[in-house]
Amino acid sequence: MAGALGAQWARAGHEVLVGARDRDKAAKRAAEIGPGALPGGLREAAAFGDVTLLAVAYEGVAEVLGQVGDVLRGRTVIDCVNGIVHPGVTLATGTGPSVARRIADATGAHVVKAFNLCPDAMWRMTPPRVDGRPLTVPVCGDDSGALAAVRTLITDLGCVPADAGDLDRAGVLEATAAYVIGLHIAGVDPRSALPSPEPEVSGARPA
Ligand SMILES: NC(=O)c1ccc[n+]([C@@H]2O[C@H](COP(=O)([O-])OP(=O)(O)OC[C@H]3O[C@@H](n4cnc5c(N)ncnc54)[C@H](OP(=O)(O)O)[C@@H]3O)[C@@H](O)[C@H]2O)c1
Repeated sequence: MAGALGAQWARAGHEVLVGARDRDKAAKRAAEIGPGALPGGLREAAAFGDVTLLAVAYEGVAEVLGQVGDVLRGRTVIDCVNGIVHPGVTLATGTGPSVARRIADATGAHVVKAFNLCPDAMWRMTPPRVDGRPLTVPVCGDDSGALAAVRTLITDLGCVPADAGDLDRAGVLEATAAYVIGLHIAGVDPRSALPSPEPEVSGARPA
C-alpha cells in the first residue's frame, strides 16, 4: 500500500518519505517509488510532511505506534489497516473499537480512515477506475483539516472522495472490507453483490 499510494503521490508532485523498521526495506521501497522518494526510519516517516500513511499489518500496529505514537500527536494520519482474522474473515477487533479509533486513542493523531476497501493493484492504476468511471474513496474522520488534506490526496490520484461520516463510523469501513474480502476469497465479484439500489427502493436519491 505504501509503494502503490506513495508512487501515485510522488507522481502528483508530493514529497514522499518511506519509513520501515528495516532501513534496507525502506530504501528498496523508496527506489521503487522513484527518484525523489526518500527512505527513513519509522520516526522520520511519522514526522515527515503534512500527512502520514500508516500502511502496516494489523499485527504490527501496536509495535509501530509504540515507537512513533508521541510523534503523531496532532498530525494527520491516514489509516488503511484491515485487521482480518482468517479463516472466517472476521474482524480482529471483534466487537471492540475500530482500528482507526485505537490508533487515534493511542496517538492523539487526527486519524482519517481511507483506502482500505480496494487492493493495492487498484491504487497502482493511473487513474484508478471501475467500469470506466473514477473510483470513489470513502473517508471517515473527525478533524476538518485532516479530512481536507486527505480529500486532496484522493483527488490527486484521480479518484473522488466521499464523506462516510466521523471516526466512529470507521468500523463500518473496516467491516465492509472484511465483507468484500470474504466475497473475493469465495470467488464472488463483490460488485455483483453491491448493486446500486433504485432510488425508489432505497428511499434516497444519490447525490
Ligand atoms: N495490500 C492490499 O491490497 C491492502 C488493501 C487495503 C488495505 N490494506 C492494509 O494496508 C496495510 C498494509 O498492507 P500491505 O499489503 O501494504 O502490507 P505489506 O506490504 O505486507 O507491508 C506490511 C508492513 O507492515 C510491517 N509489519 C508487519 N508486522 C509488523 C510488526 N510486528 N511490527 C512492525 N511492522 C510490521 C511490515 O514490515 P516488515 O517489512 O519489516 O516486515 C511491512 O512494512 C495492512 O494493514 C492491510 O490490511 C492492504
